[in-house]
Amino acid sequence: MKLQGTMSVNENELYIGGVSCKELKEKYQTPLYVFDEKLVRNNCREYIEHFKVNENNNKVAYAGKAFLPMHMCKIINEENLYLDVVSGGELYTAHKSNFPMEKILFHGNNKTLDEIAFGIDLGVGRFVVDNYYELDLIQKICEQKNTKQAVYFRITPGIEAHTHDYIKTGQIDSKFGFALSNGDLHDAIESLKNYSNIELVGIHAHIGSQIFDVEPYLDEVKIMMNLVKEIKDSYNIDITEVDLGGGVGVYYTEDDKPRTIKEFCEHIIEKSQQVCQEIGIEVPTLIIEPGRSIVANAGSTIYTVGSIKDIKDVRTYVSVDGGMTDNIRPSLYQAGYECAIANKMGQDKTNQVTIAGKCCESGDILITDVDIMDIESGDILIIASTGAYGYSMASNYNKIVKPAVVSVQNGKDKLICKRQSYEDLLKLEIL
Ligand code: LLP
Repeated sequence: MKLQGTMSVNENELYIGGVSCKELKEKYQTPLYVFDEKLVRNNCREYIEHFKVNENNNKVAYAGKAFLPMHMCKIINEENLYLDVVSGGELYTAHKSNFPMEKILFHGNNKTLDEIAFGIDLGVGRFVVDNYYELDLIQKICEQKNTKQAVYFRITPGIEAHTHDYIKTGQIDSKFGFALSNGDLHDAIESLKNYSNIELVGIHAHIGSQIFDVEPYLDEVKIMMNLVKEIKDSYNIDITEVDLGGGVGVYYTEDDKPRTIKEFCEHIIEKSQQVCQEIGIEVPTLIIEPGRSIVANAGSTIYTVGSIKDIKDVRTYVSVDGGMTDNIRPSLYQAGYECAIANKMGQDKTNQVTIAGKCCESGDILITDVDIMDIESGDILIIASTGAYGYSMASNYNKIVKPAVVSVQNGKDKLICKRQSYEDLLKLEIL
């Protein structure tokens, strides 16, 4: 298992943020999400520095969908990032954490009337408008409240990128945004004359997630900058903000070879300057929306090993006290992870086992056929890089309670989300 962030080993024990996993297990029980606060803050700072937030007035908006306890909102604010939310619930979390509402970008392809009204009431900085339904709702609410709302239009730019591949198409088959290739976007801009309470200030696209190549972003920059010029020439609208979405890939296993945050940022900024110069426009404010690359490597999950089933000549199943309820990514996306035994770090990996969860589903497997140290019931198994889309996608399937989240830093631990209780599970139920 690659040691991430502040992970260190002392006398075969794994430490994160200077706190031993053994101590964390004793204090908080397992399963437990452990959150390396220093690494999160460092990642934020890398983005702020290399995306030139201070020099060029660019913005880094953390994509809250990756992991959004209130404590995270606080960190994001302290580190001077903006925040991308996608639901009334995420917006409410930010609001309750005293996150400045003018620094919120409100995304989503089907914001409800209530969510939009809530956002306008709170004074959300930018709505990322996805469709006409939303335009109508924003206009209606703004008219009632006699206010004006600044928005971006979400564009389907015809680029789709994921970890290992990327395609350029005229792609219009997406539930998100206004397509470029069939003229939808132009019709939408044309229609703005009917929406007097809406001001278009920016354009947004998101081309995928867990992307290792910088190339698709450079194509995206080119398309977006040309669009800025076209919108000015055709409609005399100044697009001053260009939001390039999220997607920067991270390390989960040895198969992943991510570039650094610095490299991504530098390439994007350089390309923007180059394209804008070529086409004769001023470089707009650039926005990027990283989620995974800020939190994935900073989160780990510790479990206690329970049953070990050795099927001779077939496979050994090692079951832990969590599973697809706290990390759905292996079952849902066949996502790969690395693990170790936190109380046997120095030992050789002499065994091959499959790590199974405790749900009543054969597919509840966290890692298949992994080489690991000698493993016994009661050991602490750690799976690294579960910080993004782990807790945020957790469920109560099988009425299993959601784990606690503890933040560790400089030898201290701080509980940031309590473990659910059985009472919590029944809170919404009526007998
Ligand atoms: N901006 C927009 C508009 C997005 O839709 C997303 C992610 C992001 C930013 C952040 O992307 P990131 O930097 O985290 O890649 N549940 C999946 C990931 C879904 C991502 C959805 N959108 C997973 O666990 O891999």
